[in-house]
Amino acid sequence: MTENLSPIDTAKYVAAKRASEMVEDGMKVGLGTGSTAAWLVKCLGERVANEGLRIVGVPTSSRTAELAREVGIRVVTLDEARWLDMTIDGADEFDPQLNLIKGGGGAHLQEKIVAMASDKLVVITDASKRVDTLGAFPLPLEVIGFGWQATKVLVEEMLIGLSTPGHSSMLRMNGDAPFVTDEGNHILDLQLKSIENPRQLSMVLNQIPGVVENGLFIDICDTVVIGHGDGAVKVLNLSDQQTRPE
Ligand code: A5P
Repeated sequence: MTENLSPIDTAKYVAAKRASEMVEDGMKVGLGTGSTAAWLVKCLGERVANEGLRIVGVPTSSRTAELAREVGIRVVTLDEARWLDMTIDGADEFDPQLNLIKGGGGAHLQEKIVAMASDKLVVITDASKRVDTLGAFPLPLEVIGFGWQATKVLVEEMLIGLSTPGHSSMLRMNGDAPFVTDEGNHILDLQLKSIENPRQLSMVLNQIPGVVENGLFIDICDTVVIGHGDGAVKVLNLSDQQTRPE
């Protein structure tokens, strides 16, 4: 499975492999979306096939559901599972408090619902996603199609009011047509440059009519597993860092 991997794919693979070893027999596991999470699904599929690991998986997107079924993981909905032991997912950025930007793949709505319904969120990533301050990566914002241009204006006015270093937004496209999420919505990518107060921004964005969910994951992630191109892995636990404010 891992012959001839580039350094970046090696980093993603070793992070995913380490996280897959945290999964125990009988667990209900949220399965993230993206290229790193795809490695995780494959690693779990190998454990199911080779060790007889019994798990149920709750996918966070239609593409993850398809891959999970392909590799032999029993897939159920979140409503069937009700509550999960652990979710393992990728991220686009993480900061020293283990706050995240997610949604580069357009799946952050389901990802956030699934993560919040889990005892633990483990993020798997390569070292390039680590930042001191979130916001260089454009912040994904899922918005409903009805009146999305009015929503965009309201979002940008709100960002100007908050004096964020950047305040423009772009409708995400898929070729010539707007990108459509699994829930049938669109994505605005917010070019913020730097987010000084992610907690405040997350709350304010979700108050705007038409906004479904933003890609900030605040106080949700417990562990970050960082893979490196040489095969090394580092695990950051929030409980060890004690970096979150009381
Ligand atoms: C999907 O919507 C995202 O939240 C992904 O988890 C994130 O974009 C990371 O993707 P990669 O693992 O492909 O970098």
